[in-house]
Amino acid sequence: MEERERIYDEFEHYIVPSSWKDRVWEIEDYKKFYESTIKDKEAIEKWWEGWANKLFWFKKWDKVLDDSNPPFYRWFVGAETNLAYLCLDWQIEQGRKNKVALIWEGEPFDEMIRRPKEMRKFTFYDLYRRTNRIAYALKEKLGVKKGEILTFYLPMIPELPEYMLAVQRIGASHSIVYSGFSALALAERAMAAGSRIIVTADGLYRRGKIIPLKEVVDEAIEICEERGHKIEKVIVVKRTNRPAIPWNRRRDIWHHEFIRYISENVRVETERMGSEDISYILYTSGTTGAPKGAQHSIGGYAVGLYTTMKLIFDINPDDIYWCAADIGWVTGHSYIVYGPLMTGATAVMYEGAPDYPKPDRWWHMIERFGVSVFYTTPTAVRALMKFPLDYVKKHDLSTLRIIHSVGEPINPEAFRWYYTNLGREDVVASSTWWMTETGQMLTGHFPGLGKIFPLKPGTNGYPIPGVKLEVVDEDGNPCEPGERGYFVITSPWPGMFMTLYKDPKRYIDVYWSKFNEKGMYFYTGDYAVKDKDGYIWVLGRADDVLKIAGHRIGTAEVESAMILHPAVAESACVGRPHEIKGEIPYIFTVLKQGFIPSPDLEGELKSHLRNTIGPIVASDATVLFVDMVPKTRSGKIMRRLLKAVVSGAPLGDTTTLEDEAAVEEAEKAYEYLKKAMEKAEK
Ligand code: WT7
Repeated sequence: MEERERIYDEFEHYIVPSSWKDRVWEIEDYKKFYESTIKDKEAIEKWWEGWANKLFWFKKWDKVLDDSNPPFYRWFVGAETNLAYLCLDWQIEQGRKNKVALIWEGEPFDEMIRRPKEMRKFTFYDLYRRTNRIAYALKEKLGVKKGEILTFYLPMIPELPEYMLAVQRIGASHSIVYSGFSALALAERAMAAGSRIIVTADGLYRRGKIIPLKEVVDEAIEICEERGHKIEKVIVVKRTNRPAIPWNRRRDIWHHEFIRYISENVRVETERMGSEDISYILYTSGTTGAPKGAQHSIGGYAVGLYTTMKLIFDINPDDIYWCAADIGWVTGHSYIVYGPLMTGATAVMYEGAPDYPKPDRWWHMIERFGVSVFYTTPTAVRALMKFPLDYVKKHDLSTLRIIHSVGEPINPEAFRWYYTNLGREDVVASSTWWMTETGQMLTGHFPGLGKIFPLKPGTNGYPIPGVKLEVVDEDGNPCEPGERGYFVITSPWPGMFMTLYKDPKRYIDVYWSKFNEKGMYFYTGDYAVKDKDGYIWVLGRADDVLKIAGHRIGTAEVESAMILHPAVAESACVGRPHEIKGEIPYIFTVLKQGFIPSPDLEGELKSHLRNTIGPIVASDATVLFVDMVPKTRSGKIMRRLLKAVVSGAPLGDTTTLEDEAAVEEAEKAYEYLKKAMEKAEK
C-alpha cells in the first residue's frame, strides 16, 4: 500500500484518449452535474427513477426509495419485474429475437489450425428456449418453488447462465459457489443457504487439464449429511466426458437426461417478482471465519446494473462486450450475465485460462469476435504484460473502445500498459470500484454521459451520479484531499444488498455501525484517498481481508482452516505484496507438541488448505513454522508487525503499531520472525 501512496503523491498529469479530445468535461462541470444528482433525497430519487423508467416492469413502484428504517433501505417499493424476463423476453419484444446474446468459447484449442475446438453462439431466442426448458424441469420434476435457493457449483459453461435465468424465471434464487472452492467451503455454503439441490458438472477444463468437480460435490454432500443437512438432488452437466464418474442413482441426474423429454417449445410462466424479493445470495469473506451471504434484490439490482452498463460501459446493442471474470464471483453475476443481457448487448464468455495454449489467447479472442468493450482485472493484466509484446501486436484489437478493470487497485504501470498496447491510447479506461455487497459499480469514468473527465492512471475515477462516497477519518469526519481515510458510502444506491442472509444483526454490525454517530454510513472496509480534483484512489483493505489475485479471502478464514489440521496449534495469516497477484498469503504457524517442522509437513498443510478452502489460497501460500505468534495483551494477533516482517519493511514506530503492544516484546518478536522468514526464503 505504501508503494501506491507514493505513486499517488507523485502523480500529476492527466490522460485523454485521442478520439475524445473534443468531448472532455472540465472536472468542475462534471462536479456540478454530479452535485445536482445527490443534493438531497429527492435528487437521488429523481436520478434513479429516470433510469428505472427505461426498464420493463410488470407493475411500477409506489415509492422510489423508502428510507424509513435504515439500514434496511427499500428500493422501488411495490414494483414488480423479473430478471429473466428483462434479460430475455423483453429483449425479444424489442426485436432482438435472432440477435446473438452470448458467444461462448471453450478452452480446448487446436494449435494446428489455430482455432478453438468449441465455440457456440446463442441468440436471445435460443437462451429463452433453453432456460424455459430448464425452468420447466425444475418446477415440474423437482417441485422447485418461488423462494427456494439452489446452489450452483459450475464452471464457465453456458449451462451456468441458463440455470441462473431458469431459477429467476420461476422466482427461485441461486447461491453460486466458485468452482475453485473446496468441498468444505461448498458444504458450508450449501448448508447456510438451506439448499436441497446442487447443480454441478462432471469436471472442467483448465490449462489443458481436466479438473473433476462431481467428486468435490460428493464430498461436500457427505459433510452436509454428517451435520444433518440433506442434499436431495444433484444435477450434473456433462462437460468433459470423463469416464467413471461416481454416481448415486437415487440422488444424481444428468442435466441432458433431466431435460430430455421436455419440448423445446415449452413455456413457463414468468413469476412476477416483488422488487425486494431475493434474486440471489452470494457468500463472501469477512473478518471472521463464517462467510457472509450478501442478499440481493431484484428491482433495485436491475436498475443498478442497467444504469452502470449504459453509463460506464456506454453499452449499445451492437457492442460485443466481454467481461473476462468468472461467474462464481459477483463480477460475473452482474457483468457477465444479468447486466449485458438486460441491455441487449452480445456478451462473450470464455471457459479457460488467459494464457492457454499461448499467452495471446485473449487477444486472439478480441480479434476474432471484434470485442468493443472489455472488462478485466489488474492481476490478469500484470500477468499478461510479462510476455513479449509480439503476442499483442500480432492481433488486430482496433475494435476496442472501452477497457475497465476491477477487483483490486491497478498500478499506473499496468494501466498504462493496457491503455497503450491494447487500447492504442484511444480507449476510455478506468478502475471501477465496487464490491459483492454493492452489487453494481460505483466509481469510474463515464463515456455514457457523452463526455468524460480526463483519465488518471491508477485512480478509481469519480463516484457515479446519484451516489455519495466519502473518505473519512476515525471519527467519521471527511478527510482533507490527499489524506488517507476510510472509504464509506453515505447514501443508499439501488443495486445495494438488502441484508446478510438470515443475519440482519451482522449486516448492521459489520457494515453500518462504525460511524453511526455521523449517520448511516456504509463502511466498505477499504482505505482510500480523495485527491484535490475529487478523484478517488482506493488503496486496499483496511481490515483483515486479503485480495489474492482480486479474490477476497479473510485471514480468519485461513486461520480457522489451518487449526483444523491436527498438527497445528495456532496460526496467523497476513498478506505479502506480490507484483502480479497484488497480495499472497503468508501463514505463521505454531505446531502442537510432538510435531516437527519439515518440508513434508509444509506440503501437507498446503494440501490441507487446498481441501478446506481451495487453490486460490493454497497455490500461493507460504507456511512458516514459528514458536510463537506475537499478540497484544488482549490476545489480538499483531498483524501490522507480521506485515512489516513479510514485506521486509522496518518495524517503525512500535508504539503506534498496535494498541497496548509492549514495545520491547514487539521488537523481539519482529527480530525473531524476520529470522524465521529469512530461513524460509532460503
Ligand atoms: C473489494 C471487494 C466487485 C468486483 C470484484 C471484487 C477491492 C474492488 C476495486 C478497484 C481498488 C478494488 C476493494 C473492495 N476492489 N474493485 N477498482 N480498485 N480496489 O468484489 O470480492 O466483493 O471485493 O475489492 O478492496 O472492498 P469483492
